[in-house]
This record gives sequence, structure tokens and C-alpha cells, in this order.
Amino acid sequence: QLPRRPLVAGNWKMHGLRKDLVEAEKICAATAAGEAGQAEVVICLPATLLISAAPACRSAGVGLGGQHCHDEPSGAFTGDISAEMLKDAGASYVILGHSERRSGHNEGNESVREKASAALRAGLTAIVCVGETRAEREAGEALPVVGSQLTGSIPKKSTPESLVIAYEPVWAIGTGLTPTLQDIAAMHRFIRERIDVDLPGIGDRIRLLYGGSVKPGNAADLLGVEDVDGALVGGASLTARDFMAIAGVY
Ligand code: G3P
Repeated sequence: QLPRRPLVAGNWKMHGLRKDLVEAEKICAATAAGEAGQAEVVICLPATLLISAAPACRSAGVGLGGQHCHDEPSGAFTGDISAEMLKDAGASYVILGHSERRSGHNEGNESVREKASAALRAGLTAIVCVGETRAEREAGEALPVVGSQLTGSIPKKSTPESLVIAYEPVWAIGTGLTPTLQDIAAMHRFIRERIDVDLPGIGDRIRLLYGGSVKPGNAADLLGVEDVDGALVGGASLTARDFMAIAGVY
């Protein structure tokens, strides 16, 4: 058996006020009670909630993550947040290259790679997202598109501890649509092979998550696909009930 501990990560996106920390606390309590089985649980919260959530996460063994970072440790970058700041707030993960950042904030592969390198330097694990649009899939270009996103976005110094890849087809995010299990298996196999070329010798040890409309009802099927080591969950991570039903697959 390969040494890849399953990982179920929640991405709260721009959702969550202090009153919603009760859901994070429930996730922590359920994880501490063993409801996630063998899986590692991570919640990537809005930056405003990180410091408040940190103590409960730490004592439950739940990882805390940010949702993006700048590539500089500090400086005159109004409105930005650095990897060091996330780390200082209690985070150990950061999501980078999410399609909502790639499209809404013009983040290209090179910029994602620089941010991921900054995350590594700060001691964070980068969850780097890749995924094709519907038009790219329909044109038969899903594999090459994801391949070039990977090669362009992954720092050469990545290790199995400092890098996680999330495959999130853009058309599956928040839509209720998912690729077929065969398509997910083919993509994840392709990603693992490509990583092994880009980062020789460690492709088998990097965790690959599937993201896009993962729900309690489809989690067992999606997480059962070969080369899928966990999930990056959006909407269903906002309530402890749904999120833990997904993590409970493990
Ligand atoms: O990063 C996770 C996300 O993009 C998937 O969102 O709501 O389809 O689970 P959702």
C-alpha cells in the first residue's frame, strides 16, 4: 500500500462570519471523535476566521488553511496576505490556483508557481488546483490543458509533504455536475504520471484530490476511484453534517 494518507479539505470560499465558527468547531469535535476515520481533515477558511478557529483545530488535529497568498513575505501590497501571515494565524495549508482565482484575478501558471514557492518557503503545504473548462473538455483538450497547468504551476522544490494537487474541472464546480468515474480515473492517472515526470520519483507519494460538486451522496463513488486520495469540497464543507459525511467515507 502506498503511503498516501487520505485528505478531505473544505474550501469555504467567501462564506463565513464569526457566528459560523460553530460549524468549524463541530467539524473539529467530530474529527476528534474519530468520524473521519483514517482521513486527514483540513478546513480552508476566510482569512478573517483563521485566528479564531486555530485553537479548536489544533487540539482536534484538524488542519487549517488559507485560500490564497501573495508571493512576497511582506511589502506594499494593499489588500494582500502573505504565506507568512497565514502561517502566523495558525494555518498549515493554502489553496492556490483555484479556478475562481485563475479567472477572477488573472492568476496564470507562473503566478501560481511563485505563490506556491512562497507557501513552501513559509512552511505551508500548497494545495494547487488545476482543471479544464467545459469548452476545453468538449474539444478533447482536458489532458493537455491540465498537463500544462501542472508543469507551469508546480514548484520544482515540492515534496510529498509540501504539495497536494486538486483536480477541479471548472464546469463541475458548484454545478452539481461531475465527470464520469472513468474520466476522473483517467485524469488522476495522467496527473500522477505527469507529476512523476516533473518531480521525478515522487509522483506516487503526492496526494491528488478531486473537487467539484462532491456531496455526501456521491462521495463514496468519487473517493473510491483509483488515484483519488481525497476531496476538495466547496458548498458541502459549510456544514459539519455534510462535510463529515464526506470525510466519513474513510
Ligand atoms: O474548491 C472546491 C470547489 O471549487 C468545489 O466547489 O461547491 O462544487 O464543492 P463545490
